[in-house]
Amino acid sequence: MLTDSRGLEITCSDPKALDIYESSLLDLWNYRIKAPKTLKAAFDHDADFPMAHIVRGYIMSMLESVVVRPKMLASVEHARAHLDPAQRRELMHADALAGLATGNITAACASWENILADYPHDLLALKMHHHVNFWTGRNYVIRNTVTGVFDAWDASMPGFSFVLGMMCFGLEECGEYSRAEAFGRRAIDMNGDDLWAIHSVAHVLEMQGRLDEGITLLDRDPAEWADRNPFQGHNWWHLALFALEKGDYDYVLKIYDERVITSNTEFFLDIQNGASLLKRLELQGVNVGGRWDGLTEYAEKQIGDHVLSFTDLHSCLALAANKQHDVVEKYLVSLKSFAATPDNYSASITNSVVIPMCEGLVAFESGDFDAALARLWPLRDQWSAIGGSHAQRDLFTQILIDAAIGAKAYGRAQTLLSQRLTLRPNSVGSWNKYADVLKAAGDTEHAQRAAIAAIAAQNIH
Ligand SMILES: [Fe+2]
Repeated sequence: MLTDSRGLEITCSDPKALDIYESSLLDLWNYRIKAPKTLKAAFDHDADFPMAHIVRGYIMSMLESVVVRPKMLASVEHARAHLDPAQRRELMHADALAGLATGNITAACASWENILADYPHDLLALKMHHHVNFWTGRNYVIRNTVTGVFDAWDASMPGFSFVLGMMCFGLEECGEYSRAEAFGRRAIDMNGDDLWAIHSVAHVLEMQGRLDEGITLLDRDPAEWADRNPFQGHNWWHLALFALEKGDYDYVLKIYDERVITSNTEFFLDIQNGASLLKRLELQGVNVGGRWDGLTEYAEKQIGDHVLSFTDLHSCLALAANKQHDVVEKYLVSLKSFAATPDNYSASITNSVVIPMCEGLVAFESGDFDAALARLWPLRDQWSAIGGSHAQRDLFTQILIDAAIGAKAYGRAQTLLSQRLTLRPNSVGSWNKYADVLKAAGDTEHAQRAAIAAIAAQNIH
């Protein structure tokens, strides 16, 4: 029996196949485009290599489309057919892939958690759990899974830097910013190729309003990441977010056009990043021109292909913002049908959270602020269920703030702005909105104070 670089037994007939397989995992974890191609070469040396088939399925799952599910299930069957019953760890990976292939991502996460309880050095299980659980919005599970194995790791174990990067993100999402940053900076020092570690530190800086430091971290030559997969677009999205909070909207549009959405997109993460940036710009009064058109073609194709609720919400937002009312209606009908799918995480929150949020976004884009407020306000502390990060979900808080202002519900707008500004005291746009709301509510003294804070925020980064 062969063992991998972290000492775990693995079913493989040829050491050369195993070497190539491990290279493909490094490519994957460093977000290199070539990861699937590298993995394919492993099959030249062992066509039946079970874990390579499972990783092939894992990579397909990252397209977040139901279209690839039959192929993912074929990978599950192939792996199971070539695994001895004694190979519990590898069989549990097959179970996890089966969960992914049916949309049962909580079951997939449970399989990886079972693996990690017995095999804390299974970095593949840890990475997969980290990224899939992300879409359930369970912050403490993200943190607990990586802290649960951390004591078994040290710098002598290959891949330690990836664990540090995940520690950073898990702690950041739970609000432990200083500890998170220390882990993240160490991860980057050990492996400057790890886009996730860089991304995790960007989250810390975002949550602390350290805008110039965020720009310093991320504003690098695009050529540096030219060989990386579309996840790089999300890091460019973070760069744009720092510029947006500073009020530098021309620069945000430049990043959007040159780095975030460079062509009509076919990738789920692009619609999330693109719609999020365009709407945030519009909320600050910026005219984004015809840019919604480049997103809605893909959004329309998502009808009937429901995997991530987070994507569904951004697709609906893009279509509603682009005034494609008939298409949005079809999208909502499709979502209502999808909600009946059994044993599917996204379906389980569709009726309670996703559809009311989508309806709120549609009402907002139609100018019916009372209806938007009625839909979104009761859910304001529940939308972590749609997955994603605090930084991403902040979009919906910002929309809710504008819905409250539009509905002249100034008390609610004040509450939401107070919450946001307490956490993000450097937000120029939010201070300006706060000043306007206070003035409209007749509190001139506090309005003046907020206006002064907006000016001060332009200089404190
Ligand atoms: Fe992010």
